[in-house]
Amino acid sequence: MGGNSGDRAGAVALKGNIVTMKLLKKNIVFTALLAAVVLAGCGNDVAGPTEGEGGWLEYTVDDFTFEWLIEDSLSTIRVKITAPTTGWVAVGFDPTLVMNEANLIIGYVSGGSVNIRDDFGTGQFSHDADTNLGGTDDVETISGSESGTNLETTLEFRIPLDTGDQYDKTLVDGNTYTFIFAYGNNDADDYTSVHAWAESASLEL
Ligand code: HEM
Repeated sequence: MGGNSGDRAGAVALKGNIVTMKLLKKNIVFTALLAAVVLAGCGNDVAGPTEGEGGWLEYTVDDFTFEWLIEDSLSTIRVKITAPTTGWVAVGFDPTLVMNEANLIIGYVSGGSVNIRDDFGTGQFSHDADTNLGGTDDVETISGSESGTNLETTLEFRIPLDTGDQYDKTLVDGNTYTFIFAYGNNDADDYTSVHAWAESASLEL
């Protein structure tokens, strides 16, 4: 009687708990699925690093491609950067925060001539030529091309792994550094305008 109704109440409460647990479990599964879909949808399109011909390594984020080759015999790093713009393209090595203290290499192709400059991150959102800061320009331009049809610019250059300039960063083969990548708007053939796109990555050289 009283005991019976107590048992029944207990059974109903238990059933209620099981239903609640089931709903909770469903909710957790649904939330996890939703998070996975959202993360997949919002993330950058990243590929690599992958090894290509002749020991070149390649890393792609969105439409920006960064390729590099450590040239041990020369103690240099050879770099190719490609981005979907007819304006400036840049890569930065080893910043402290955003662009600050990064060794930045920035360049553009204009009227068939390739312009590449060795810069330094003077603040999170500012940079200047090493030569303006009292340092040296240590970048050797190898080549550059621009296609107005594909809206694409490629720059190829070489820098010493250790320049001795206080406005560069020493790079060691096999070490991991933060790299920053950015490009300007189409026709932004300059070293000063803000980017149309910027990203960063942690990569092992
Ligand atoms: C004078 C030129 C530049 C100005 C005024 C500037 C300004 C800024 C500002 C305001 C931000 C924060 C807001 C945003 O993400 O848009 C930013 C972010 C950033 N900038 Fe620049 N920038 C300049 C050049 C560069 C260059 C040459 C690079 C080199 C690769 C660079 C790399 C970055 C990166 C990696 C971020 C963080 C992006 C992110 O976390 O999503 N910037 N910059």
